[in-house]
Amino acid sequence: MLPIVDKPLIQYAVEEAIAAGVTKLVFVTGASKRAIEDHFDVDPELERALTESGKTDLLASIKDIVPDHVSCVYIRQGEPLGLGHAVLCARPAIGDEPFYVHLADDLIAGKPGCLEQMAGQYRIHGSSVVAVEEVPLRNTSSYGIVAVENAAHGKRMTKIVEKPNPEDAPSNLAVVGRYLLVPEIFEKLEATGRGAGGEIQLTDAIADLLNEASVYAYSFTGDRYDCGSKLGYLQATVAYGLAHHEIGAEFASFLKGVVKEKMSTN
Ligand code: G1P
Repeated sequence: MLPIVDKPLIQYAVEEAIAAGVTKLVFVTGASKRAIEDHFDVDPELERALTESGKTDLLASIKDIVPDHVSCVYIRQGEPLGLGHAVLCARPAIGDEPFYVHLADDLIAGKPGCLEQMAGQYRIHGSSVVAVEEVPLRNTSSYGIVAVENAAHGKRMTKIVEKPNPEDAPSNLAVVGRYLLVPEIFEKLEATGRGAGGEIQLTDAIADLLNEASVYAYSFTGDRYDCGSKLGYLQATVAYGLAHHEIGAEFASFLKGVVKEKMSTN
């Protein structure tokens, strides 16, 4: 629920998913995450109050959050057993079709959005697609890291390892928080034991899937901000603030002033 300028991160995730054609959103939440459900819920009282006071702009902004053709399902992950386990919790709501996994604290500014770009890749390959980006080798232990080979129309994954130390990393190509997965991944997740950090890792299930299916690593177009880190969160706030249609120009001149003062005191 951390806001970037005027919307919580989860809302950017929802907007990116809807732009990619998603009509069912499955939120896997932990204990005390009721705020997410409340945020996307309709609030007839608030809508009535805004209508009566003629605040049509505000009314439109709350009504727009989830369009009518999109449904929301909320699933509780009883215990924090890892990303792989969270994805498995969503299985009953997904069924037997390809689906996206979106980790909302990786905010990606892209046009079209990253998930939409990945849908284009899926149309080409008909196989799972994982978004990747190069990271400094010293940071490999924060990510799933992949090795790839060149294939027709893209990079096919040959290996994926969860959070390796730099000396064990197969490359510096890191998985970011976007996946488009075939439903066969669920069988693999069922069979996945605890891995790195004692958690059930999606990475390990993808490694298993690689034994029988192609998975493509996709270098998306856009800027990623890791909003789970202090620096990434600040960078996202500045980038989105500068691009904001209402306050962008004023914020830019404020920042210019701050930077000028900082330079003159250094
Ligand atoms: C998760 C995945 C990791 C991936 C990362 C992207 O890790 O396990 O493979 O690279 O998301 O953000 P987490 O950041 O949840 O520890």
